[in-house]
Amino acid sequence: MQTVSTLADLRSTRLSFSGIVGLVPTMGYLHDGHLSLIRRAKEECDHVVVSIFVNPTQFGPREDLSKYPRDPDRDLSLIEPLGADLVWMPTAEMMYPDGYQTWVEVEAMTRPLEGAMRPGHFRGVTTVVAKLFNGVQPHKAYFGQKDAQQAAVIRQMTRDLNFPIEIVVCPIVREPDGLAMSSRNVYLDPEQRKAATVLYRSLSAAKEAYESGERGAEKLRQIMKDVIASEPLAQMQYVSCADYDTLEELEKVTGKTLLSMAVFVGKTRLIDNFVLG
Ligand code: PAJ
Repeated sequence: MQTVSTLADLRSTRLSFSGIVGLVPTMGYLHDGHLSLIRRAKEECDHVVVSIFVNPTQFGPREDLSKYPRDPDRDLSLIEPLGADLVWMPTAEMMYPDGYQTWVEVEAMTRPLEGAMRPGHFRGVTTVVAKLFNGVQPHKAYFGQKDAQQAAVIRQMTRDLNFPIEIVVCPIVREPDGLAMSSRNVYLDPEQRKAATVLYRSLSAAKEAYESGERGAEKLRQIMKDVIASEPLAQMQYVSCADYDTLEELEKVTGKTLLSMAVFVGKTRLIDNFVLG
């Protein structure tokens, strides 16, 4: 496995690859969720590239960029046994040199949900992912359903800008008690860690109601809100019952639907989602 940081080194290694190339973009501090994407890429591609870059432009001024957890040595030791060929770890100065002024912005579907709570977040995500796509030139790129809106936005960007790349979205990997794996889970103290299962419990309650025939979106949102409200350490930021593709809020559930939420447990902001239908 090779590790590169500069674009020149990335390009020369990329040129030596033949066959299908898969890219797994990450911000590092890897867990089993990330590793599941790398495993899937390895199954489907001849060469696998993993990028590790804590992208400053997707963090808001009051977000956790400076304290975002990092451990590159551990990350490399987790990736190596999975058979990835190349890890690209650029620096912020390489990605955004002085004078940088080009941005990629997806419009309507970045406005609700995460976009509403984190202004500018998706502009940073789409810009960096476009740069990662151009650098690596993969045939396939792997994203997690964990960040459902991010996956939808990247699918839209890929279509709109004619990137010749297949976007593969992989299922959410969870802890045994249902908590979705996230690099941010390390911020939780033991009591908060227990409370954090409230996202899974709340999504499960709404899913159960759906499976018993409930189709009213407001009813499903209320079920999720009630479960979150029952957890003293949790504070709801939003809950949503939206169309899976457009992310528009629904009145009635008819087709493929995304139940999603953002919840603060202490100072840690957690997101999770289920897909219905
Ligand atoms: P990061 O949060 O490091 O996540 C990298 C990828 O892993 C994303 O596609 C994310 O959806 C996926 N992932 C995270 N937790 C997961 C879980 N529990 N199960 C399955 N997949 C999971 O998302 C980003 O980085 C950045 O925004 C990035 C796309 C790299 C652009 O900077």
